[in-house]
Amino acid sequence: MHTALPGPNSQALFERHDRNATGSNADHEVYPLVQTSRRGHLIVDADGNTFADHLSAWGASPFGPTPAPVKAAMDEAWARHGMQISGWMPNTAAYALVDRLAHIAPGRLSRVEYSVSGTLAVEGAVKFMREARGRPLIITFGGQYHGESTYMSAGASSDLSNVSSGRTQYVAGLVMVPYPNRFRSPFRKGPGPFDDTEVLDYLDYLLVQQIHPGQVAGVLIEPVLGEGGIHAPSQAFWDRLGQMCRRWGWLLCLDEVQTCMGRTGEMFAMQRWQGIDPDLLLLGKAFAAGGQPIAAILGTDDVMKDSELHLGSTYGFAPAACAGALAGIDLIANGGVLENARLLEAVFLEEMRPLIGRFEQVGDVRAAGAMAAIEFVRSRHSHEPAPAFQFAVHQAALRQGVLCISQRGKWHLRLQPALTMPEAVFRDSCRRLQAAIAGVADSPPVEAESVQLAAAQASR
Ligand SMILES: Cc1ncc(COP(=O)(O)O)c(C=O)c1O
Repeated sequence: MHTALPGPNSQALFERHDRNATGSNADHEVYPLVQTSRRGHLIVDADGNTFADHLSAWGASPFGPTPAPVKAAMDEAWARHGMQISGWMPNTAAYALVDRLAHIAPGRLSRVEYSVSGTLAVEGAVKFMREARGRPLIITFGGQYHGESTYMSAGASSDLSNVSSGRTQYVAGLVMVPYPNRFRSPFRKGPGPFDDTEVLDYLDYLLVQQIHPGQVAGVLIEPVLGEGGIHAPSQAFWDRLGQMCRRWGWLLCLDEVQTCMGRTGEMFAMQRWQGIDPDLLLLGKAFAAGGQPIAAILGTDDVMKDSELHLGSTYGFAPAACAGALAGIDLIANGGVLENARLLEAVFLEEMRPLIGRFEQVGDVRAAGAMAAIEFVRSRHSHEPAPAFQFAVHQAALRQGVLCISQRGKWHLRLQPALTMPEAVFRDSCRRLQAAIAGVADSPPVEAESVQLAAAQASR
């Protein structure tokens, strides 16, 4: 680190840019640097400072810098096809990707709908569920994130209430149940571990008191909660949710936009458990392999074969994006990537779990492959969230040259390294993060009176 953050060059670029930027794009407290390049797993800023990248473009650059085979495949497809709307003009690039997806799709999934972003894929899935079942309601889980469309950001988002439902209209048709969480229970105080199937007791309660099961088309769930803080539900949770789906004729839609293509150490996160049998599964982010935007909805014959929906988008399955995605699947299939993601999970738990006993504020340490989180609390007895502590650790980590995923008002800090990050680089970042936590614990920041107040104050 050569300068304080932001350094003078980044600061000058901010000042120029901010004259034309929207409010949130002119907020530089979370990331006080302007990237000028990447060097392997490092991000270089305008002042020559370097940071280990634990953002991976929030999962969209799963291999760090875009790999040469992905670039070469995209170049070839550009030269051959140029831009094309694959939903209207059949082309060999899109067809090759559909063949491959059908081959690797788990369980009963055999059909593929083209899409361009995670948000559009989720919107499309909601339509598929309603069309297939002829029912209006979708069950979602609190703390999930499904993108910034008016519908999904209003109804089910990990964004704090001031960012999402506080500013967009509440929408009908979504029923929200708390996400299964063994560390923190919405129904009970104090430290767990809790039985995370209790949220399904609550769903059972809703089925008696508020919604008729015959009005529910399907369940939309992230198999590992991403933006909401890396929670991986128990096998018992999945077993019981599966029983409920079968009993009431609900479709199960897994939003794997963030977890697909190796992020959790499996090709699809659902493969971390036994017996999950989705009707729909959504791909995005890492699916593009660091190339051009692309997303997909995988579905069963039952849901998709006779569908009359038109979900196309101009850029959905553009030929070069398809070629890049295919090259990314090959990279994973060639071996080594999933194994490395699992290694990073083990390293994170080994390095960071011991901090739970050492620092009052380190409440929980969680990882699922190369997605990891630390949850900060005010005291290990109350488990009351500590968002100010989290944000102070993030800033201290930045000064140590470690870029993590942070948001003001939240109390978990996340790391999402490239699936291919070498163990030594990741371990070094964990050690720097330990130092950052120790520094903040020496003189902890004052927390807002309540977590609701902290959330309300989070956007200024
Ligand atoms: C689980 C999940 N679903 C959907 C989305 C939205 O994807 P996109 O930003 O590509 O629209 C995201 C993005 O972070 C996500 O994490």
